[in-house]
Amino acid sequence: MLETPKHLIRLDDLSPTALDDLIGMSIRIKSRGARATLAGKSVGLLFFRGSLRTRASFTAAVHQLGGCTINLTASSDFWDLEEEEGRVMDGVAPEHIKDAAAVLSTYCNALAVRPAPPGRSWSADRRDAGIRSWAAHSSVPVINMESAQWHPLQALADLVTLREHLGDPRGKRLAIVWTHSPTPASHSVANSLLHAALREGMQVRLAHPPGYELDEEVMSDAREVAVREGTEVATHGSMEEAAEGAHVIYARSWGSLEHYGNPTLSASRRARHANWIVDQRVMDLGEDARFMHAMPVRRNLEVADSVLDGERSLVYPQAANRLHSEKALLSMMLRS
Ligand code: CP
Repeated sequence: MLETPKHLIRLDDLSPTALDDLIGMSIRIKSRGARATLAGKSVGLLFFRGSLRTRASFTAAVHQLGGCTINLTASSDFWDLEEEEGRVMDGVAPEHIKDAAAVLSTYCNALAVRPAPPGRSWSADRRDAGIRSWAAHSSVPVINMESAQWHPLQALADLVTLREHLGDPRGKRLAIVWTHSPTPASHSVANSLLHAALREGMQVRLAHPPGYELDEEVMSDAREVAVREGTEVATHGSMEEAAEGAHVIYARSWGSLEHYGNPTLSASRRARHANWIVDQRVMDLGEDARFMHAMPVRRNLEVADSVLDGERSLVYPQAANRLHSEKALLSMMLRS
């Protein structure tokens, strides 16, 4: 019997055994299909910001397992929710997360939440205050569909993809490379992949321009995981250094913590790094390297068309694995 966490806020909520079993289960479900483990169950999906893959794959996963979804989009279906405990609620929010979570827990067997866009307050975003508040007040499992710091569903699908295409990933080299984008993503994918790949024993090289360091606590935890797993994590100041000898080159844009919440300063700093694009020259530095990206992806800005559409690109299988791995996760977390 797998050890099941009450909530899934980050992939580290899964024990090594549970994570390993989940990857295997995802691959089995992909080839053989899944049983109707969610028959008669309902899953609430709450989106406080947009999504294409997560929304579609999670909805399909619940339905294909025989359950139903209750889809709620914050901008159109309900109102602002207060997060702060003990506050006199005289602001715009007419309802507290505490009450919304308690009520939805009586209709749903699980709540999957994509919290409000990060970028306003690093002190709140760093703690993932929104998703943690849902978990604190819900009596059913809460699944994080991408907060400021973590995207466990993407990391799980990424591990399934790595296992499928590399076999045992232990000892293989992964380059996580920063890319230029006018709409940089949060740190969630880079943080989650970094920890997940190290847990699998991969050697990880991270590349970003100065000022785009990941959160210091995330990095120090990553170094601890690397020591525990007998592997290495290194940071480089150029994409080329990280790509040298890599088996997988994974591109992602993310914002600078130095200018968090200041779009004007962020844009002027970013403009200096417009040459951070994965093209064939970068791919050729790898060892028959595969290309990965969590999407959405800006073509010919983050990655050249020839790489994204090339035969070494895993982006579509990677996105497809969201469905299979989410079915495995739901089956594990919601089994009776
Ligand atoms: N990768 C990912 O989470 O995609 P969406 O933002 O479209 O859900």
